[in-house]
Amino acid sequence: MKTIGVVTSGGDAPGMNAAIRAVTRLAYAHGFQVLGFERGWEGLIQNRFRRLDPRSVGGIIQLGGTILLTSRCPEFKTPEGVRKAAQNLAANHVDGLVVIGGDGSFRGALELSRETDTLIVGVPATIDNDVYGTDETVGFDTAVNTAVAEIDKIRDTAVSHERVFVVEVMGRRRGFLALAVGLTVGAEVILVPEAPLNMEEVYKTIRENAAKGKRSGIIVAAEGVGDTRKIARQIEENTGAEVRLSIVGYAQRGGSPTARSRLLASLFAEKAIRLITQGFGNRVVGLQRGEITSISLEESCKNQKQLDTRLLELAKTLAT
Ligand code: ADP
Ligand code: F6P
Repeated sequence: MKTIGVVTSGGDAPGMNAAIRAVTRLAYAHGFQVLGFERGWEGLIQNRFRRLDPRSVGGIIQLGGTILLTSRCPEFKTPEGVRKAAQNLAANHVDGLVVIGGDGSFRGALELSRETDTLIVGVPATIDNDVYGTDETVGFDTAVNTAVAEIDKIRDTAVSHERVFVVEVMGRRRGFLALAVGLTVGAEVILVPEAPLNMEEVYKTIRENAAKGKRSGIIVAAEGVGDTRKIARQIEENTGAEVRLSIVGYAQRGGSPTARSRLLASLFAEKAIRLITQGFGNRVVGLQRGEITSISLEESCKNQKQLDTRLLELAKTLAT
């Protein structure tokens, strides 16, 4: 019997369960058995897996999180850890491995691909949307909608009290989430790690808005821009506005996946299983200009996805 392994790795994202479900049912439809490795790369190192079948993935498409659990696994950043994982793939005769995760997980997959003949295919699933080779990752749409719903509520109290709110969203290194959320809540200012932090520009925007009678405002900041508590204090000290900080936090990582996140998960899984059944490995599937495509694992890992900073200007104009 041929075997496909599936693993969820790195930061969890809404839609990972939809991807696990689709991988399992599509693999079965192609005559494969499925091993679900638990807790990310740790599961491959420790050879911890559970057998999945079409019934075991029933009723999970709507669930956030991952039934296989996930982890961040420092041991996998060592050659010994990668070697152990490769040995376990061989011991279980795993023909193909679907890795559901983000850019870090794919860097791990690239290391593993050099130690195994197992066909490895990545399904991009992270709320950061920072995987090179896809316009959108599984979970991103859900996280954006979660943050937007929270910030729309914050906007109510900001307007009522004529306050400025600094709202921190996730994104330790990249600003894709902050930019999409900022645009869609009508933020007056959006701060992303990719753009230098110019506090004088922030003060100027707040002062100009107040002069026009717009005394409340929303500043969406990716957590990677720095100490948002300090940023809020500096704005208050330099503009005279009453400023509060609100952190959306880990709610962005959970919740029932949106239809879009479920759709991407299912389409990416279908592409991944198709690649493996056709004998292709070391690929990352993605959505590019409306098409479900794939690029090499190496190309995805060696390149950095660019943020369209022109959208920052668009957001500024739309918020005047
Ligand atoms: P994400 O996949 O969401 O970006 P991480 O960046 O934490 O999450 O990566 C997930 C896991 O992938 C890490 O905990 C580690 O086990 C593995 N990993 C990340 N980068 C590398 C690397 N350069 N080499 C080997 N393994 C890596
Ligand atoms: O990778 C997704 C992410 O949510 C980032 O946006 C965030 O900075 C990070 O994970 C938080 O990591 P952890 O869950 O380990 O605290």
